Amino acid sequence: MDIVRTAATDGNPEMADAAVEPKAPSEIRREDYQPFAWLVPETRLDFELGLDCTRVRAGLTVVRNDKAAPSRTIRLNGDGLVPTSVTVDGEPTQAFAMDGDDLLLTLSGEAHEIGIETEIDPSANTQLMGLYASNGMLCTQCEAEGFRRITFFPDRPDVLSTYTVRMSGPKAQFPVLLCNGNRTGAGEDGDSHWAEWHDPWPKPCYLFALVAGDLIARSDSFTTMSGREVELNVWVREGDLERTEHAMESLKRSMRWDEEVFGREYDLDLFNIVAVSDFNMGAMENKGLNIFNTKYVLADPETATDSDYDAIEGVIGHEYFHNWSGNRITCRDWFQLSLKEGFTVLRDQLFSADMGSEPVKRIEDVRVLRGAQFPEDSGPLAHPIRPDSYREISNFYTATVYNKGAEVIRMMRTMAGEEAFRKGTDLYFERHDGEAATCEDFVTSIEDGAGLDLTRFRRWYAQAGTPKVGVSLDHDGDVARLRLTQTVPPTPGQPEKEPMPIPLKLALFDRASGKHRGEELVVLDEDSAEFAFDGFAEKPVLSINRSFSAPVQIERAVPREELVFLAARDDDPFARYEAMQDLMTGYLVATVSGDLGANEREAARADIAQAMQAVIEDEALDDLMRGELMSMPSQAYLAEQMLLADPGRIHAEREALKADLGARLAPQLHTLYDRAQEVAFSLDAEAKGARKVKTLVLAYAAASDAEKAAELAAYQYDRADNMTDRQGALMVLAGLDSGARTGRLLDFYERYRDNALVVDKWFSLQAASLHPQVVDHVKALRDHPDFTLRNPNRVRALYMAFAANPAAFHAADGEGYRLIADLILELDPINAQTAARFVPPLGRWRRIEPGRSALMHRALERIAAAPKLSRDTFEQVTRSLG
Ligand code: PHE
Ligand code: ZN
Repeated sequence: MDIVRTAATDGNPEMADAAVEPKAPSEIRREDYQPFAWLVPETRLDFELGLDCTRVRAGLTVVRNDKAAPSRTIRLNGDGLVPTSVTVDGEPTQAFAMDGDDLLLTLSGEAHEIGIETEIDPSANTQLMGLYASNGMLCTQCEAEGFRRITFFPDRPDVLSTYTVRMSGPKAQFPVLLCNGNRTGAGEDGDSHWAEWHDPWPKPCYLFALVAGDLIARSDSFTTMSGREVELNVWVREGDLERTEHAMESLKRSMRWDEEVFGREYDLDLFNIVAVSDFNMGAMENKGLNIFNTKYVLADPETATDSDYDAIEGVIGHEYFHNWSGNRITCRDWFQLSLKEGFTVLRDQLFSADMGSEPVKRIEDVRVLRGAQFPEDSGPLAHPIRPDSYREISNFYTATVYNKGAEVIRMMRTMAGEEAFRKGTDLYFERHDGEAATCEDFVTSIEDGAGLDLTRFRRWYAQAGTPKVGVSLDHDGDVARLRLTQTVPPTPGQPEKEPMPIPLKLALFDRASGKHRGEELVVLDEDSAEFAFDGFAEKPVLSINRSFSAPVQIERAVPREELVFLAARDDDPFARYEAMQDLMTGYLVATVSGDLGANEREAARADIAQAMQAVIEDEALDDLMRGELMSMPSQAYLAEQMLLADPGRIHAEREALKADLGARLAPQLHTLYDRAQEVAFSLDAEAKGARKVKTLVLAYAAASDAEKAAELAAYQYDRADNMTDRQGALMVLAGLDSGARTGRLLDFYERYRDNALVVDKWFSLQAASLHPQVVDHVKALRDHPDFTLRNPNRVRALYMAFAANPAAFHAADGEGYRLIADLILELDPINAQTAARFVPPLGRWRRIEPGRSALMHRALERIAAAPKLSRDTFEQVTRSLG
């Protein structure tokens, strides 16, 4: 390896050129994009597999890119690699230099063959990026920049190459050898065997994948719209096969749906999914070889909840849909991440809506947006869906890029209408197939295909921050006049904003008849605008931002009786949900701020209870939707409504309202429970709805009558024939100081100790519980023999659940912050990507009351002061300190 370091000073004249190449800048900026000087039409890889030592031989055909500024140097990115041999056109060469981790080669001609050998140790790879070992198998994760941990390569998404891969290894240890594309050959050689794979579709290296291990498959097949047979496999470890049926069914539904709704057909003869238990994210769309976190594959009623089932269907769809939105058309650079992620999230949302309840899915998606993205947008980490700069791209796999990105495309769809939008996406797929494209390319395609003018709309890609829309409605004569204003708050680096087109669906209800004359769409594209509606003898009731047509915050003083009216009558289920949320939010924000006298409090609570009772007793509602209408706004959402939040007060007032509702509505809630209890287990909507309302009733009961709740929850736990009921009951029990708590927690652990995903639930529900001693419980669980920092699922199960539990995380003495800071420091050297994801909760310090704020800031400073931080954590902490 010393040879390599001294190569640059060998006096070789070629080297001077390579050495002047600038060092990789620490901040990457979108405006600095330059096409790569070389094309890599073909890549050949040969892996000699071993858990502790894998040898990689890479062969790259490189050709000058005549669309780029010429350079004699080719930069091959590396990360922790040492080249054991480098050849150019078959000849060993010393004419290369290391620039940090990258390898620079000087090339004299138009086209060359580069050969590079490296050796890596997968079992030492705790970052889970590149090639790593998980449970005795080998697998890869290359997005965003993991391929450079396998071999030296231009690791950028605009370099597309076709891959031919050979891999060999001990048969007994790695009986199954998988890669992208189609298998083109296989053979044996004593105890060893090999396989050769070829992927005909040019792809960036972040979509490369390889898996080797002792796996078995559930196999099936799918006939595409043009009549091609595709072999489908879901690969798992021996004991997990029975839990793959739902994943396989979800895959087939995804394939059919993408043909029907977007006209997209699958393009290989084989589609493989592999489940691995050590994985940093949810899943990965590698061409023809999707790699999944086991959490998003394995399910049966005994071990998976209804939400697990839904999440599996959604993630399987998401990764499958990437085959077109991400793989066939990829991203030019990582600033364009939302091109594939925002669009693919929208596609998976529409898919799930079609497979289940559309309004309930919409409510869930909005809840995620408000719970995760709105806080991001109003804090120190705010960034546009197409960021302008980054230090570590892993930090930009955010709710903003994914979920707000999806909302932005959804708005285009709303403005265009479904049919015209489809013309736009058809044009996009046609125009850019096989390319590395930009967000601008996408917008232009929709503009041209759908016939929209999106000139101003493009600002949604450039400006961060959640717009605030002011709404007022006046009535005069028979005219109702709607006045709208918008402001986009300042965000880091963006003090001033331009107005953005905001599509708002609305309806005006006649108070007496409870009807409206049709939904309308208005687009607010200036700072303010006025819209007049005539023919209203009486002032109508306004329902606005129906189905959440725009990802904005509506600011409007609505009289409580109008909210009660909409909660009971609005024909848009989302708007109905919103009215219930507003009713509770309005009360809680006012009462936390101490703005309400005793009489006002009582009047508001009575109104909320009355609206809730109407929801419980409305026979036209299905239980899945009823459950949404009965859910209280989250503490995070409430905090977001206040300039400075006091998490202690928010928690206390929210619990008090829950207790009050639980007590006032006890008879209705128990009737609801008894009715739901009659529904036998199945996976249909009715039975899922019944399970959802049962656990909600337990939660209300726990706040109002702990003893009764403990009894009911223990009963539900003991007779449960599915994980949804069992986990729901245990969740409630975990928050109570009752004898039933310890026994059932122990029982749950004993029952499922061999199932890692269920043990994760066991950790989570204790860390997320309402129990006053959660901080101590988490400290104890940290020392549990089943806890490990090496498995991201386990880390998240304990600590993400904790960080998302306001009463515990925001413990007034700062213990919660300390715990998270300790975790970040300990985890950072092991798995930087996962460690950095724990910084944002601490980054909320500016929006929290002064006492806690100071403690949060101190925790961040302690992390910042650590001697050696990863680039991931360093960037998040610096931005969070502001
Ligand atoms: N591209 C993956 C997805 O959203 C997410 C991912 C990113 C997975 C980075 C692993 C690493 O589908
Ligand atoms: Zn994705």
